[in-house]
Amino acid sequence: MTQTSVTQPFMDVLSGQRQAVPPLWMMRQAGRYLPEYRELRAKAGGFLDLCFTPEYAAEVTLQPIRRFNFDAAIIFSDILVVPYALGRSVRFEAGEGPRLDPLDTPDKVATLAAQVDAPKFAPVYEALRRVRAELDPSVALIGFCGAPWTVATYMVAGQGTPDQAPARMLAYRHPDAFARIIDTLVESSITYLTGQLAAGADVLQIFDTWAGVLPPREFDRWSIEPTRRIVEGVRKKAAGAKIIGFPRGAGALLPSYVERTGVDAVSIDWAAEPSLIRERVQNRVAVQGNLDPLALITGGAALDRAIDDVLENYAAGRLIFNLGHGIQPETPIAHVEQMIRRVRNHR
Ligand code: CP3
Repeated sequence: MTQTSVTQPFMDVLSGQRQAVPPLWMMRQAGRYLPEYRELRAKAGGFLDLCFTPEYAAEVTLQPIRRFNFDAAIIFSDILVVPYALGRSVRFEAGEGPRLDPLDTPDKVATLAAQVDAPKFAPVYEALRRVRAELDPSVALIGFCGAPWTVATYMVAGQGTPDQAPARMLAYRHPDAFARIIDTLVESSITYLTGQLAAGADVLQIFDTWAGVLPPREFDRWSIEPTRRIVEGVRKKAAGAKIIGFPRGAGALLPSYVERTGVDAVSIDWAAEPSLIRERVQNRVAVQGNLDPLALITGGAALDRAIDDVLENYAAGRLIFNLGHGIQPETPIAHVEQMIRRVRNHR
């Protein structure tokens, strides 16, 4: 199939036009599997220094685009810059992941600032402007934030946990205090995402990495509803803003997430059930995903088979090819190249 005067295949998929060859990028495409990332990361010192030095953040964002020619760049930052801008202490300790001051009682929640210190976002906006200026116009630039639920799980526990028990407990025991965290994150995220659009982002992704640990009623209240408010709030300030949601692990709750949040696309994890996705999700919005990152580590015939499954399941409709979650640091670069060749040769 020929594409006439298509400038951004990625944005075209979001606007309703299926592409014969699905546009492709990878979650966490700027990261530790790349030697050039590891080198700059060592030079920057701390992880947050890397995020907040526009020259470095822009460079790291562009590294995977130069190497692999992806259809989209995602600004290099982290979902925890929002609690940081709310004045919370946020540290990344080598090999241990994020550490924050836990907000695990109503008394502590009462100390949470009502609003972000907006100037703290300025370096992210500057990095976006730099990337947009260097990026080929055919490549889409993605801004992002964490969904309130997922960001709250780290704020409450003060670190990552296997099942987000601390946030789930606070939400059951003290729903009003928990709602205060969520409401603050909704407003902060609207500010942050709108700023990213103004700085040159073409599209936004909302990462709800921990959506899948919630029972349906809680999922409605803490994942769908806050995300719906963010989508509405952003579009009030930036009409027609394109937004991708990623409620990881939502499974059979995906159709209602799509219906109620108003997102233009959803990112799906590798456990998604294909007929449910095709018949009740991809019929309404574009779908992004969903290669198992472990198949990408494995390579060879197992990788080819996993890629073909994604294409067979979803390429007849609007698809953005991606992984079902972020690429792992131990992934061989040759396997990424194998994936790109196979997807781009797909007919
Ligand atoms: O390339 C990209 O995708 C853009 C950059 C990006 C990062 N984090 C950089 C990063 C994005 C989109 C994120 C999102 C993010 N951060 C999420 C949601 C998506 C997901 O992957 O689940 C979450 C839950 C976080 C919070 C976070 N940041 C954790 C739990 C960790 C530690 C785990 C780990 O992978 O090390 C981080 C650190 C982090 N954020 C790294 C990167 C490249 C690794 C840190 C390093 O380089 O030392």
